[in-house]
Amino acid sequence: MPQFCVVTFGCQMNAHDSSRMEEVLVKGGYRATQKVEDADVVVLNTCSIREKAEQKLRSEVGRLGLLKRRKPELVICVAGCVAQQEGERLLKSLPQIDLVIGPDNIPELPSLLASVETGGLPLVRTVFDVETPAFLAAEPSLGPALASAYVTVMKGCNERCSYCIVPHTRGPERYRASGEIVAEIQRFVDSGVREITLLGQTVNSYRDPSAALCVAPGVGRAQFTHTRFAVAAEDESEFAALLRAIAERVPGLMRLRYTSPHPRHLTPSLILAHQELSVLCHHVHMPVQSGSDRVLRRMIRRYTAAEFVERTAALKEAVPGLTLSTDMIVGFPGETAEDFEASLALVRDVGFVSLFGFTYSQRPFTPALKLDDDVPDAEKSARLARLFEVVDHNKEQHLRSLVGTSAHVLVDGPSKAGNLSGRTQRNEIVHLSAQDAALSGCGVGALLEVRIEQAFKNSLAAQVNRVLVPARPRLERSLVVQSSATVPAISEVSQQSPGPRRQLQVI
Ligand code: SAH
Ligand code: SF4
Ligand code: F3S
Repeated sequence: MPQFCVVTFGCQMNAHDSSRMEEVLVKGGYRATQKVEDADVVVLNTCSIREKAEQKLRSEVGRLGLLKRRKPELVICVAGCVAQQEGERLLKSLPQIDLVIGPDNIPELPSLLASVETGGLPLVRTVFDVETPAFLAAEPSLGPALASAYVTVMKGCNERCSYCIVPHTRGPERYRASGEIVAEIQRFVDSGVREITLLGQTVNSYRDPSAALCVAPGVGRAQFTHTRFAVAAEDESEFAALLRAIAERVPGLMRLRYTSPHPRHLTPSLILAHQELSVLCHHVHMPVQSGSDRVLRRMIRRYTAAEFVERTAALKEAVPGLTLSTDMIVGFPGETAEDFEASLALVRDVGFVSLFGFTYSQRPFTPALKLDDDVPDAEKSARLARLFEVVDHNKEQHLRSLVGTSAHVLVDGPSKAGNLSGRTQRNEIVHLSAQDAALSGCGVGALLEVRIEQAFKNSLAAQVNRVLVPARPRLERSLVVQSSATVPAISEVSQQSPGPRRQLQVI
């Protein structure tokens, strides 16, 4: 049986796509391997969000090219955002590549491979499924017990933020029918998964193409004073209604999260859903990008800092204790020292407890290319370092304030020390002692009531008070799909502070 290895770069959408590729390949008669050296087919699932990420592909292909010299039958396939962005050009610049496949063409992977493997010419298939959008259903994990899983609700992005390549690489927004989403979540829950994270580039712009959702309470409520929209209170999204449908129709689900929302769809109905649905976790990752209105306008973010503050404050008021994390870009073209100070002030005001920070990187096909990339690299790095100082301070204060309190922790895996660790509703990482980890019922998937004993830089240590829900024994399955090989350590570590968000780092 031929063996394949999928190497993943980029965001959760890419990691999710990698799992779908593994599934279609296993169904197509391939066997998964974690070792590139053992593989007959290597799929590089690429990211192009920043220049460094794209460069990574070129060095990986170079490395695989050497392997291919020793093993000429090795098939090199490039998938993901660089594949979509570059298409045929990749074959010209990197002739070692046999197949280039876009994110919407994953179901065709086995047949395209078959053609390449039987001596056909290199192939490029990067067609968006705009007319008839398809969402490959995920197979509930068949490997070791999982506490949490991702479920796609939409793909593509219509925002067109001026710096961002994603609308180009992922195409226009397309939504998945609510019934399909609910059914997939139910399948995960039946297989023992406790926590679901809904996935989408602007996940809260969701609208149900099957028109099966009821209007959510809160729609049309006038709540905000700062607004630039014609309809002051609400927008066209049905995300709150989707959350309510999931909560109602999958009562066995313990925790529900989503990523990444866009601030302009943080509507009164979504805030009300957070207030009323106990399944929704008390943490939201809400990318802000900048605290300066001038920069936000040039980024085409479609909100002001005041709007962002007002909406997130309303969310925090609705859910006491809710934590917020964010994404920020520093050194955007034209960002002055004053603009940057506004970003720092916003991080302090909103009290983000975690932040993914990036220095601006020029990307092809983006409107910001027309702007002069005028902040010197050294200045960009210095601003990023200051940004991390501010958020690290917020985080430290926050974690320290939790010592002595109790929390519910969902155990999601072994910690670095080999004991168990998990996450609170607010998404803090909590480590358990070896003694507690050995308690009956305490394993991956267990829900625990703990007392926070100690705060570290990025995590907490706790003692178990009681096991609320024991770890679930694995269900027997006939088919085993291994999880994709992810590239571990990261060249852009300095760009990202270690935060509670579970995310593949962008390389
Ligand atoms: N759809 C998500 C995030 C997509 S990309 C959202 O809108 O929140 C993840 C992050 O990468 C972005 O939030 C942004 O902070 C960063 N990013 C995107 N394009 C970038 C660029 N050209 N340079 C630097 N950072 C960028
Ligand atoms: Fe990129 Fe903006 Fe879309 Fe996010 S919302 S994917 S930053 S264009
Ligand atoms: Fe994700 Fe990178 Fe594409 S962040 S959507 S894999 S450009």
